Amino acid sequence: RFAVSVGYWKDPYIQYFVRQAKERKAPEINRGELGWERGHLTCYYARVHGVSHLIKAFLERTECNCQIVNLGAGMDTLFWRLKDENLLPRKYFEVDFPMIVARKIHNIKSKPPLSKPIMESHSGDSLLIDSHSLDSSRYSIVGADLRFPSDLEEKLKKHSLDMHLPTLLVAECVLVYMTPQQSANLLKWAASAFPVAMVINYEQVNMRDRFGQIMIENLQRRQCNLAGVELCASLHSQRERLLVSGWENARAIDMMKVYSSLPQADVKRIEALEFLDEKELFEQLMQHYCICWASKDSSNL
Ligand SMILES: C[S@@+](CC[C@H](N)C(=O)[O-])C[C@H]1O[C@@H](n2cnc3c(N)ncnc32)[C@H](O)[C@@H]1O
Repeated sequence: RFAVSVGYWKDPYIQYFVRQAKERKAPEINRGELGWERGHLTCYYARVHGVSHLIKAFLERTECNCQIVNLGAGMDTLFWRLKDENLLPRKYFEVDFPMIVARKIHNIKSKPPLSKPIMESHSGDSLLIDSHSLDSSRYSIVGADLRFPSDLEEKLKKHSLDMHLPTLLVAECVLVYMTPQQSANLLKWAASAFPVAMVINYEQVNMRDRFGQIMIENLQRRQCNLAGVELCASLHSQRERLLVSGWENARAIDMMKVYSSLPQADVKRIEALEFLDEKELFEQLMQHYCICWASKDSSNL
């Protein structure tokens, strides 16, 4: 939310899901921490840009005649942003733990800027809503554990998931919280369940070097355990996990590469917002996150 409030990119919906961050420390108080924070914001910007680019390419290819399944969606606002851009797929699904879903549904129910777009895009029978799931014609949210793909499939099918429609699965900072076996099961399920599909995964990479180890230690200190970190060893390991799970044409690029492909006007604007004086730290950070994607296409979409 902070990144949006200082103008990194526009997201009019995030304010309804995430409370305003506390006041920032003055630069002279802790420069190291601030450099770290700046790096993260810019990395976040590159991520939003890169992931949106891939999502829009899929929507364009399928002429929106597709569905999106956002795995571990948390408080993501993509559905609302796509609606504003007139780019909604036939149906947009979100999955997360029931407790997170209940929180999101509460926000949707109590904030008209969130509920209105769902109502506007809804047609037909009355909308199904309870504390752990919501199902409308174009937006659906399901409480499920991604470690159990058959249970997940059953729940999504109850919300009219169409196994024959081109399907985009998005996982941003999610697979790393599952063991390699659990995320492999999920990726294998997705590759075999949909004849035409694409998967996008955003998460850590190059985690075996010194910088990666410091990132792991920092997260562990905040009780955050990256159970799947061994698959984040390199761009190669990230690509391989997709290929061995039945996906084709897998690619993986680090965020430095994404950043260097941003339009120059964007880079100038970002660098003017928060001049990146700790360039080395910033570059290291960007080299430790990546976007990976792969497809499966029996009909040469
Ligand atoms: C770091 S957050 C990322 C949220 C969102 N994808 C984003 O990028 O803003 C990870 C999310 O994955 C969800 N998650 C992790 N493991 C999960 C599992 N086994 N089943 C369902 N959700 C899970 C968490 O509850 C959390 O909302």
